[in-house]
Amino acid sequence: MSEHAVIAVEHLGKVYSGGFEALKDVSLDIRRGEIFALLGPNGAGKTTLISVICGLVNPTSGRVLVDGHDNVSDFRAARERIGLVPQELTNEAFVTVWDTVSFSRGLFGKPKDPAHIERVLRSLSLWEKRRNRLITLSGGMKRRVLIAKALAHEPEILFLDEPTAGVDVELRRDMWEVVRELRNSGVTIILTTHYIEEAEEMADRIGVIRRGELVLVEEKRALMRKLGRKELTLHLHSPLSDVPDTLAHHDLALADDGHALVYRYDASRTDADEDDDTANIAGLLADLEAAGIHFKDLHTRQSSLEEIFVSLVKERQ
Ligand SMILES: Nc1ncnc2c1ncn2[C@@H]1O[C@H](COP(=O)(O)OP(=O)(O)O)[C@@H](O)[C@H]1O
Ligand SMILES: [Mg+2]
Repeated sequence: MSEHAVIAVEHLGKVYSGGFEALKDVSLDIRRGEIFALLGPNGAGKTTLISVICGLVNPTSGRVLVDGHDNVSDFRAARERIGLVPQELTNEAFVTVWDTVSFSRGLFGKPKDPAHIERVLRSLSLWEKRRNRLITLSGGMKRRVLIAKALAHEPEILFLDEPTAGVDVELRRDMWEVVRELRNSGVTIILTTHYIEEAEEMADRIGVIRRGELVLVEEKRALMRKLGRKELTLHLHSPLSDVPDTLAHHDLALADDGHALVYRYDASRTDADEDDDTANIAGLLADLEAAGIHFKDLHTRQSSLEEIFVSLVKERQ
């Protein structure tokens, strides 16, 4: 286990009783204080992995250490450090916000601490709703209550299993803000998502899981730098049938039935290299001029995590 790991996952395997292999030799260190996004399509094994880490599902092989505590042989010590916001909304209807959150704290054998419950409710904008029964709350408020319940026993690590699945865009942004504030208060966050945009927006690091295998773990920024490409698109006055030989040394492709030229260049550069990019683009424009190719306008874009993800998954198939 590296010294920064707040959770060490070592060679986890999970075969469900029917024989389905849901996790294959998964190893992963979670760093204290980070937001780690576990990204993968439905059925990839996200819920299984966090259920094993939280000690709710037994692994077939491997082990998990939470702050150095084995989550099977030292279950209580491991579990009390963890808060879990489950994927499914629960169906308690008639209890109040205050009671359900206080009850969650009691489950961990922690002494009553109304001041802590108040802090949690205020931080999630639930204070005004504390006397409301759950049935009277909107979907978004119910999700906040689930987070409050998970935080009631003061965990250092919070798992959010698909916190924004099926919620509208506005609520999703709201939830992202809540998660950021939690991280700023020192909580380590592990969230699962099948929304690439969510991982791109939130994560410090991203793990991609596919068919029970962790196929990639990387700093988000490094991932975007390493695999990202910048593109310059030139919309031409007259269409071309081929890229002229005099331009062959530039990385050019025709698009839009010959009406556009796309120039790709590496985004995996430091700022110091930007002068190089500028020089290369200036060279390209001069060569275009010399070849008598004129353009109406141009624009640049940088590839998104979505494109990176799609190309990665393709590469590995
Ligand atoms: N209790 C179970 N018994 C058998 N198979 C299961 C069980 N729970 C999940 N699975 C299967 O394991 C795979 C991974 O499921 P899950 O971890 O829920 O994926 P995700 O959360 O990424 O959508 C799926 O194919 C699912 O059908
Ligand atoms: Mg799931």
